[in-house]
Amino acid sequence: MQRSDFSEDFVWGTATAAYQIEGAVQEDGRGPSIWDTFSRKPGAVLGGDTGDIADDHYHRFREDVALMADLGVNAYRFSIAWTRVQPTGSGPANQAGIDFYRRLADTLGEHGITPWATLYHWDLPQTLEDTGGWLRRDTALRFAEYAGIAVDRLGDAVSDWITLNEPWCSAFLGYASGHHAPGRHEGSRSLHAAHHLLLGHGHAMTAIRAARPDANAGITLNLYSVRPASGTAEDVDAARRIDGLSNRLFLDPVLRGQYPQDVLNDAGEADWFAENATAEDLALISAPIDFLGINYYSRHTVAAGSAATDASAYPGSESAVMIDTGAPRTQMGWEIHPHGMLDVLEMAHERAPELPLYITENGSAYEDEVSENGNVDDPDRLDYLRAHIDACRQAIERGLPLAGYFVWSLMDNFEWAWGYHRRFGIVHVDYDTQVRTPKASGMWFSRFLGGRIGRRSREGVDETVEVA
Ligand code: FCB
Repeated sequence: MQRSDFSEDFVWGTATAAYQIEGAVQEDGRGPSIWDTFSRKPGAVLGGDTGDIADDHYHRFREDVALMADLGVNAYRFSIAWTRVQPTGSGPANQAGIDFYRRLADTLGEHGITPWATLYHWDLPQTLEDTGGWLRRDTALRFAEYAGIAVDRLGDAVSDWITLNEPWCSAFLGYASGHHAPGRHEGSRSLHAAHHLLLGHGHAMTAIRAARPDANAGITLNLYSVRPASGTAEDVDAARRIDGLSNRLFLDPVLRGQYPQDVLNDAGEADWFAENATAEDLALISAPIDFLGINYYSRHTVAAGSAATDASAYPGSESAVMIDTGAPRTQMGWEIHPHGMLDVLEMAHERAPELPLYITENGSAYEDEVSENGNVDDPDRLDYLRAHIDACRQAIERGLPLAGYFVWSLMDNFEWAWGYHRRFGIVHVDYDTQVRTPKASGMWFSRFLGGRIGRRSREGVDETVEVA
């Protein structure tokens, strides 16, 4: 497999998100988000970690962009912190916040790297959570106002926009299981949050089109390859439920303009949706997008079990359980299944045959060790990366309209409820010194792309991995 197996204009990027890397949470007028609040709640984040400093990217972004240029990527997906632009989630733009993202976009441009901006990667302004958060319909309108401001003010420097990142996580980890901010346990009411998030996406698309008719804009969903553990009717039904809540609840409204009725019925929310998810809402949610972003990490093998007692991230389907098939897993416990990437691409493609698709995240966490000579040899991550890029190649061979791939993540960062205890970077970060060191996986990626770091390592200066 070589880069030349892909088209010249294929997008090769790395991805990050604001709260996970920026730090500087009180600088230049940034307001508090639900992650500032949540990370301070005792027991919410492993080790009591917060994003206060993170990778200090806010101050080191020039160094980080130079690193990406050395890796050889042609795109960078980052997110904009809503509370840098609107500290309390409404009202006029905070100029200093806009300026930071302009500096970032300009620096990327100087290095020939195309900025891809995500407008919402989970950091809701705390002020909006205080008035109901995503359970409140009005939050969708607030989001669209912010999206319009961001695109209006930055649209000359950024042309690729993603409205939401993974609304499944915002709705179900945020408002059902409570593993993520705001940490609420609202049971099946979390489906209302899902609807308001999607409505926010719909209104934001309208605002983006109004601000910049030529913008390239879409949404990113986290999709899973789902299969039943056996052919029994119970396991097949359990898998239908998990596929429904994880995939169809988001794909169907965005790409087909309708919610999957079985999922609403399972959750006991059919009446609420009949009353509140109006035809106008669905028209907005399904308005044309220019691409679909897919974050793909893993496969779920699902069986019928006994109802979980903890607050579940699968409201109304608590008795469906993910089983351990014995297949290799990453440190997150996520099964490694590169071929599942083709499954999720197919899912989107069958619903929207003309729509360009991007893998906007894919990556793995492993326990890394820095060796005495300063190298980080991460053969498992390297294998994961190579196998999934090969799955991209197979997808294209199969005729799927895959146009780009972003590795999660450029560098180790604040992994939400896991704090700094899970490392996803292809570049290692020493949190005491903020020194960045490309891992073997990063060097491989750079070699694959023909980047400078890869060329240096090929010349033997830093040869720690075998070339594929
Ligand atoms: C995704 C998130 C991203 C990161 C990876 C590991 O769900 O979008 O921020 O945490 O998982």
